[in-house]
Order: sequence, then structure tokens, then C-alpha cells
Amino acid sequence: MKKQFTFAALLTAQLSLAAPRYVLSDIQRLKTAKVNILAQDPNIGVGLAIVTPMQEAMLSQLAHKAGRCGGYELVPTPQAGFASPQSMNQFFDTLVKDIRIQKQQSASFARRFVGFPRSKAIEDAVAKVSADNIKSTVQFMSSFQNRHARGQDANKAVVALKQRIETIAKAARVNWNIDLLPHNSVPQQSIRVHIQGKSRPQEMVIIGGHLDSINQSGINAMHAPGADDNASGTSTVIEAFRVLSQLPQPERSIEFMLYAGEELGLLGSAEIAKDYKARKFDVIGVMQLDMTMHPGSGEFVMATMTDFTSPWLRNYIAELNKMYVGGKIIEDRCGYGCSDHASWHRQGFPAVMPFEASFHDMNHNIHTSRDVINEKSSFKHAAMFGKLAVAFAMQLANSTDRENPGFRR
Ligand code: BES
Ligand code: ZN
Repeated sequence: MKKQFTFAALLTAQLSLAAPRYVLSDIQRLKTAKVNILAQDPNIGVGLAIVTPMQEAMLSQLAHKAGRCGGYELVPTPQAGFASPQSMNQFFDTLVKDIRIQKQQSASFARRFVGFPRSKAIEDAVAKVSADNIKSTVQFMSSFQNRHARGQDANKAVVALKQRIETIAKAARVNWNIDLLPHNSVPQQSIRVHIQGKSRPQEMVIIGGHLDSINQSGINAMHAPGADDNASGTSTVIEAFRVLSQLPQPERSIEFMLYAGEELGLLGSAEIAKDYKARKFDVIGVMQLDMTMHPGSGEFVMATMTDFTSPWLRNYIAELNKMYVGGKIIEDRCGYGCSDHASWHRQGFPAVMPFEASFHDMNHNIHTSRDVINEKSSFKHAAMFGKLAVAFAMQLANSTDRENPGFRR
């Protein structure tokens, strides 16, 4: 006890010499940590404060209990502090600008959201999603040494996966076609499967996930089974395609995208989204599936990422989940463009990313040779995302929901 106290006192003494540490954090947590709040906005629940190392440690501890990784953000401020309370308030306003906009948007989208009636056709289709099929494709994909986008065999798994999809599509009822898409930034190719829309073929819904894998050593040839990241999402997309391909032709087009080079910086999806924008394609909704088989926050818990995504579509999948899937949805954020949904979002297309768990509870074996199927893997969990994808594609492709006045980013 005594030792601890001396150590803390030392740290506090050092702090007075160093620049003050300003943080942005949850107001409630700041209060619990007994921090003097300098500026706050109760509407969004965020406050600005200067913290001592002790208080900072406490904030981090409280945040961890709430299942968040950092839970506070250090903000760069001048050592001399602020000239006036006004200049500090101004600074706070710029810091929280984006959070306020996001909050406002979510609220107004939620208000304008008009629900849709339950559909027997969707219910029946969703029931056809098979956990075993997803498992078998994950086994297949993770049996390659790696799927590195610049590896010696960058396209070996891609070509094999294309053949596998062609076999699955033998039972299709719809008109469909499959293409390999070459890229400028990377030798690996993406796979695109297209189901042609009946009455509005130029409007499309996209379900996607990245097919490449990586070993964090950075060495292309290293073992990178990438079972969860992202054979799981890819296999979930393929299972959604199987189910949708055996239904009547949809009104709008539906595309399934298996992206190359995501792990090297969203490379494949960035090229595709840019190209679609340039060609003025009418993409009305994109769902990204990246990691679906690790039930880190519980078997029926799905997170939906709030950054680089559309609030309206987040609402939409929450509603679809209630109607057809029955999982529990929690909201979380990556804090950076962590997957291909960000490529679409950057080009102005509405995107969503349902994720296996809260960011904090994700599978920590990713990007290593340990990312394999293990005792924690749950294909029932992955199947929930497949059901959500099927419902998403059917409802968006066949309804008039996009005419909803609230429908925009
Ligand atoms: N599957 C991950 C993204 C991810 C990780 C999402 C953890 C949510 C929780 C993805 O394949 C990845 O690793 N992305 C990179 C970023 C990219 C721009 C290279 C990352 O997160 O470092
Ligand atoms: Zn990934």
C-alpha cells in the first residue's frame, strides 16, 4: 500500500512538469473518476477534462468494465492551455462536431424510419441458411497455406473458390454470372457474382467480404489460414448467394463481392467502389461481412459498426434482425476504416457492417497462424449473419423502401 502511494505521488509530481493530458470521455465515467470536467455536452454524453495518470488509469479501468477498449481519447492541446473559457468551448465544439452530427442523424433517421411488414417469402428463405455449408467453405478456404494478395499463389485460392461457387450455383433458379476482377494495385483478383434484377436491373444491393488473409509477420509466404478473418465472412456471403440463387429473380440486381487485398489497405474494394461511382452505378445498399464465426460477446450477439456506415441502414438491419433472425444487436465502432465497407462509404454509397462481437471481444487470433476453427468457433453464430444478409438483400431488392423519404446516407 505504502509503496503504491509513493509511486502515485511520484507520477503526479512528474505530471506537473509534463504537458497536461486532456481527454475526451464519457461524462458519467469522468464523474466516477472524480475528474474536474472543463466542458461537456449532456446530449451526447461526452466531456473534456485534464487527467492525472491515476485518473487516466481509472478511466481506462472503468471503460474496460463497460467492454470498451480505450474508452477515452487523448486530445492534443497547447501546453499553455486556453486563453479564455470561450476559446476552450470552441475547441470542445470542434472535437465533438462529428459525434453531434452522428447523433442527430441517428435520431432523425430513426424518426423517419417506416417499418415494413413481415414477409413469408423472406421467412422461408432465411430458414434455408445452413451453418454446415458455411463451416464446410471455411474449412475449404482455410486449408490453403495463405490467401495473401501479393503471395506467390495470390490467385490459387481465388480460382478454386470461383469453381466452388460455380458448383454451388448449379442448383440456381435465377439468371446469374460470375467474374474475376483484376486490379491495378494488387495481383490478386476479386470475385463478383451478379444476379440480374428483373424490373430495375440498374439498381443494386451488394453483399461482400474480403477473401484474402495475412500473417502479421508481414511475410507473404507465411501460414495465414484466416479462418475467422475472413473465410467466415466470405463463406457467409457464399451461403447467402446459394439461398438467394434458388429464389425467383429479384426486382433489383444483387451482387456478391469477394474482395482481394483488403488486408493490404482495402485495395480491391477501393478500386471497385471508385469504378462503380465513376460509372454512376446505383448501389442502394452494401453489407460487409468481415469475421462472423467467433461469438466473443455471446452466441446471439452481433455488433453493428457505427463508423463509415449509414445510420438508416443500421436501423434497417436492426429491424430485419428483430423480424427474421432474433439476435441481440449492440453498437460499436472500429475507430478507423477497418474493412471494405469504408471503401463504399468513402464513395458515398450507404453501407453497414454487422460484426461477430464488440470490438473488444473480437477474435484475437486473427492475422496469425492460429486463426483456425477452434472450440469457440460457432457456425450457428455465422449463420445469423447469413440470415441477416438474405433478409437484407430480399427486402432491399424487392421493396419500395428506397423511396422512403428517410432513405439516404
Ligand atoms: N477483419 C479486420 C478488421 C477488424 C478487426 C474489424 C477487428 C473489427 C475488429 C480486417 O481484415 C483488418 O485487419 N483490417 C485492417 C485495416 C486495413 C485498412 C488494413 C486492420 O484492422 O488493421
Ligand atoms: Zn478481415
